Amino acid sequence: MSRFPAKVRIVEVGPRDGLQHESAFVPTAEKIAFVNRLAEAGHTTIEVSAFVSPKWVPQMADAAEVFAGITRRPGVRYTALVPNLQGLARARAARVDEVAVFPAASETFSKRNIHRTAVEALADAKRISDEARAAGLRVRAYLSTSFGCPFEGAVAPARVADLTARLIDLGAYEVALSDTIGIAHPRLVSDVLYEVTRRVPSTSLALHFHDTRGTALVNVYAGLEAGVSTFDASAGGLGGCPYAPGATGNLATEDLVYLLDGLGVVTGMRLEAIAAASRAIEPHLGHPLPSRVFRAMQATAARG
Ligand code: HMG
Ligand code: MG
Repeated sequence: MSRFPAKVRIVEVGPRDGLQHESAFVPTAEKIAFVNRLAEAGHTTIEVSAFVSPKWVPQMADAAEVFAGITRRPGVRYTALVPNLQGLARARAARVDEVAVFPAASETFSKRNIHRTAVEALADAKRISDEARAAGLRVRAYLSTSFGCPFEGAVAPARVADLTARLIDLGAYEVALSDTIGIAHPRLVSDVLYEVTRRVPSTSLALHFHDTRGTALVNVYAGLEAGVSTFDASAGGLGGCPYAPGATGNLATEDLVYLLDGLGVVTGMRLEAIAAASRAIEPHLGHPLPSRVFRAMQATAARG
């Protein structure tokens, strides 16, 4: 297994990418408890919320209250999505450790998601990055629709590589190549990473998979083989995107940790503690969480 990185960093996106998509509004106190449990489970980066328009994403309207309520553990970075300078001002007031910008590789998705063309979104990302870094904040970037767009179909890997390089140039320390609608498969992951790593080192990349078609874990395997060592995941497999028709949950943190534990790759995560966070949030969702490993753990616990 020496062809894999010895250690993987997991970015927990459940409180943001997961909860933004739920039809039930999860009470603020439950969100706060969820974030605290995820930190206890060993996460070092937790995306807590999004300072986006509450008109567009009402589930994230309490971002400031969630940040005010969490217990900040040393060694954990508490991050948030920011679409514009107004969002950055709100994020700074809430004392976030890091912000994430989120342009897209395809025009139609960019316009639907943030009402900006791809070029306008990059200009906004630069303004956010300049101001955030001047204030001492780290900047992460997502590149949505890196593996395909719900409206336009295939996206050229060379375009993904070009936009990724531009995001690094404007100050992002890492770009999360994002499979917004869970359409990627290992060959596509290899093809995209081949193009992108000609421009940007794999140490500056993360992979953000949604598990819509059940390919997220094999895509991680392809990413590990290409030298990527940062992966996004959400507890229990919560997740989706309100502006991508048919988008379902993120890759589940439990499923990812189970795979990496089995491969002998160090994550610093405690599987049982992640499942405890999922178990506590599940009753507030109105549906069972989809993570296969979480479901198996629940079934085993029920058998006693
Ligand atoms: P807009 O309507 O073009 O913005 O929306 P605007 O600048 O014209 O402002 C309109 C109103 O929104 C104004 O209020 C602003 O104050 C307010 P009004 O005068 O009408 O009362 N507003 C804000 N309020 C609070 N916080 C802000 C903010 N900005 C403006 N930051 C905008 C543009 C980007 C704001 C809007 O489209 C938006 O918030 N979109 C949210 C998109 C979103 O959150 N999508 C889901 C997350 S992305 C995702 O899930 C993908 C990812 O997981 C990776 C992947 O899987 O691909 C990251
Ligand atoms: Mg996502």
